Amino acid sequence: MAHLSNLPEHVAIIMDGNGRWAQERNLPRVEGHRKGVEVIREVIRAATELGVKYLTLYAFSKENWSRPKLEVSFLMTLLSHYLDSEVKELHENQIRFNVIGCIDDLPGDVAGKIKRNMEKTKNNQKLVLTLALSYSSRFEIIEAVKKLCRRVRAGTLSENDITETVFSKELFTADMPDPDLLIRTSGEYRLSNFLLWQISYSELYVSEKYWPDFNKADFVQAVGEYQKRERRFGGTAPTAQCRSNERPTGA
Ligand code: FPP
Repeated sequence: MAHLSNLPEHVAIIMDGNGRWAQERNLPRVEGHRKGVEVIREVIRAATELGVKYLTLYAFSKENWSRPKLEVSFLMTLLSHYLDSEVKELHENQIRFNVIGCIDDLPGDVAGKIKRNMEKTKNNQKLVLTLALSYSSRFEIIEAVKKLCRRVRAGTLSENDITETVFSKELFTADMPDPDLLIRTSGEYRLSNFLLWQISYSELYVSEKYWPDFNKADFVQAVGEYQKRERRFGGTAPTAQCRSNERPTGA
């Protein structure tokens, strides 16, 4: 059971297993995605109740464009409905809606709704909900490298001034802390091109459940497991003065 100390500030989730969940029930794969949206709702509620500040969900990768056309168009329709129906409720609950990834890869109406919803909710403080859409971590890293190269070429940045902090500021996640906890469902032990730079020191938690079966209790259990972990960030075991899950300051 999670308690309120040592909470992860940022939880990221790879929501996996929608297709298998549906296939095991002789349902079309898309039914797994539909149920998956209900789980998103439940997990957002759990995160806000616990006091998690950032929740980042891997909803659609750049690689997912290669799925069958019908599945992709179903996911886009689901997303479009989500942007109409759910974001209003998020706003009422002081949740900021955010997207990382290549928004302009998405159908024009969906991209437009995303931008409007991000603008509308930008001052909300309770939780930042980020959906990764048409997202690829390697793409994000290459784009960051290109931006830094351009700045060096323009003479506004010296090569010697490129630090981890400077690099991080060129990523889609520039204005958020790195995830403290990364959850993946469906028992797969893979990162699937998700936040590769940002999860360098994240604690990993794999749930055997398919995403459509994941629930509030599972989320709370993952957070509880995180709270028991001792984070060292490459250093030694913490002293009595330093709580086990605190980031080292200035590091
Ligand atoms: C992985 O399951 C899940 C996805 C690729 C998409 C996640 C999407 C949702 C939860 C719903 C859509 C979200 C929004 C916000 C509208 P999979 O299909 O790879 O499952 P499998 O590994 O069992 O095939």
